[in-house]
Amino acid sequence: QSYSLFSAASQPTNMSETSELADIDWDNLGFAFLPTDYMYIFKCTRGREFSKGELKRFGNIEISPSAGVLNYGQGLFEGLKAYRKQDGNILLFRPEENALRMRLGAERMCMPSPTVEQFVEAVKATVLANKRWVPPPGKGALYIRPLIMGSGAVLGLAPAPEFTFLVYVSPVGNYFKEGVAPIHLVVEHELHRATPGGTGSVKTIGNYAAVLKALSAAKAKGYSDVLYLDCVHKRYLEEVSACNIFVVKDNVISTPAIKGTILPGITRKSIIDIARSQGFQVEERHVAVDELLDADEVFCTGTAVVVSPVGSITFMGNRVSYRDGGAGVVSQHLYSVLTRLQMGLTEDNMNWTVEL
Ligand code: COI
Repeated sequence: QSYSLFSAASQPTNMSETSELADIDWDNLGFAFLPTDYMYIFKCTRGREFSKGELKRFGNIEISPSAGVLNYGQGLFEGLKAYRKQDGNILLFRPEENALRMRLGAERMCMPSPTVEQFVEAVKATVLANKRWVPPPGKGALYIRPLIMGSGAVLGLAPAPEFTFLVYVSPVGNYFKEGVAPIHLVVEHELHRATPGGTGSVKTIGNYAAVLKALSAAKAKGYSDVLYLDCVHKRYLEEVSACNIFVVKDNVISTPAIKGTILPGITRKSIIDIARSQGFQVEERHVAVDELLDADEVFCTGTAVVVSPVGSITFMGNRVSYRDGGAGVVSQHLYSVLTRLQMGLTEDNMNWTVEL
């Protein structure tokens, strides 16, 4: 039982922590960090396996200035969400998929990772301990952030001697400031997110630091996010800073194939399955940037962004708009099917949700 992980000292101590819901403005959640009550921590030394984790009060952690993660970027993260159902129970969405992706990423980054079972148990325990932070139905989700870092000290370049697996959570609403309204993308044609043979297909922290320059410049110009091209041909779509991309033309939905430089999104994979089950033809292939010109609709997918319609894309100063700048019918439909399933409003025929 997950609660056996509490030490006596970390039992909730004041009345506000035992109430059903945290006392915050649930109607205005964005995607900003809000500290919660507990985090989960697991440590292991190089060459060993994670053995015993524990829930601790949420707070700062102490780390050597020489830690592998601070000096050489040895770090990896995941993201998943928990939704509160109408009956008060909580649903996780495909946590084993995150666990598996983290294991692949950890292998690429020379880090140990928890087993799928350890990962899922840690996530469940963290969510249950922070239950009062799971938004009421329809108000958002509890975003769960598992991470692994090289926490041990190194000076010469090498994997760290000690690793920390940590899970923290924060209640969230919409990722983009546009809310559920269409977002506006700009295609980046100089900077690239990933290279063949690099780490683009894993969720290592450096991939996200690498896009901050293009992202900040785009935001300063009023765009919501940046769409990256492949670095070899400078012609094929890769992904957006924080999400995958889909292009709709007639009844065919296309998305860049997973080929080492693109993050294999769990929402991406789920949307492909949902779209096929709804009668759409889905193609995973090279999608050329010129295809954006005569697409009917474009949308993004990700845990944080869910399914976000794209209102316009600007490439080399030329702007193309979709569905007259409104939300596309295909993305709206897929958004609805996915989120109803995640929130427990429809039967989960896919067996994707885990109830707590
Ligand atoms: C997610 O969608 O969970 C991500 O990890 C993207 C992150 C930049 C918010």
